[in-house]
Amino acid sequence: MADLELNKLFAAPLVAGVVFMGAGILGEVVVHPHRLERAAIQLGEGVVAAAAPAAAVVAVLESISPLLVAANVDTGRQLAQRNCSSCHSFNEGGRNGVGPALYGIVGRNHAQVAGFAYSNANRALAEKPWDYDALNAFIATPARSMPGTKMNFAGIANTQQRADVVAYLRSLAATPVALP
Ligand code: HEC
Repeated sequence: MADLELNKLFAAPLVAGVVFMGAGILGEVVVHPHRLERAAIQLGEGVVAAAAPAAAVVAVLESISPLLVAANVDTGRQLAQRNCSSCHSFNEGGRNGVGPALYGIVGRNHAQVAGFAYSNANRALAEKPWDYDALNAFIATPARSMPGTKMNFAGIANTQQRADVVAYLRSLAATPVALP
């Protein structure tokens, strides 16, 4: 009798275990759980961007404003000759080429040169001036700062060089726009 009691004592947890496992398997079969294809709760865009390695791709654009006072107009002219003059003229009354004439560009609104077939992207900004920030961003990475632009130019990555080029562009006016 005592033996039987002991057997029961050992058997109880065993039976409980088997029943527990069985219930689990049965549950799977009956309920058919499906994996969610998308997370039920979407993170905000900002959270996703912070988690992705976006920081490495989207380099922070350095402002040219602090560099403009001491920028070198002569170096800027040379850089512009090398990088821009295949498409742009810089002299007063200059012609349009692949790109529009750039004399007087600093402070002028976007897409204002008569007779030049601007992109829709640039025309959409016709109410906005080419201020120092806009020029800095555009010359750094034209395609990224103005998606859809016709200006087929990779950009100038060096901030000092952009400052020199913009200082040169600023000089192309009877009365240059004030420095920032
Ligand atoms: C391969 C030809 C090409 C080169 C090189 C080029 N550009 Fe352009 N640029 C264009 C074209 C085309 C446009 C018209 C863009 C549009 O409408 O989207 C333009 C537009 C511009 C504008 C806007 C003009 C306006 O009236 O709105 C500026 C400013 C400018 N370029 C500056 C430069 C500078 C500075 C360089 C050299 C660092 C340069 N570009 C190099 C072809 C070029």
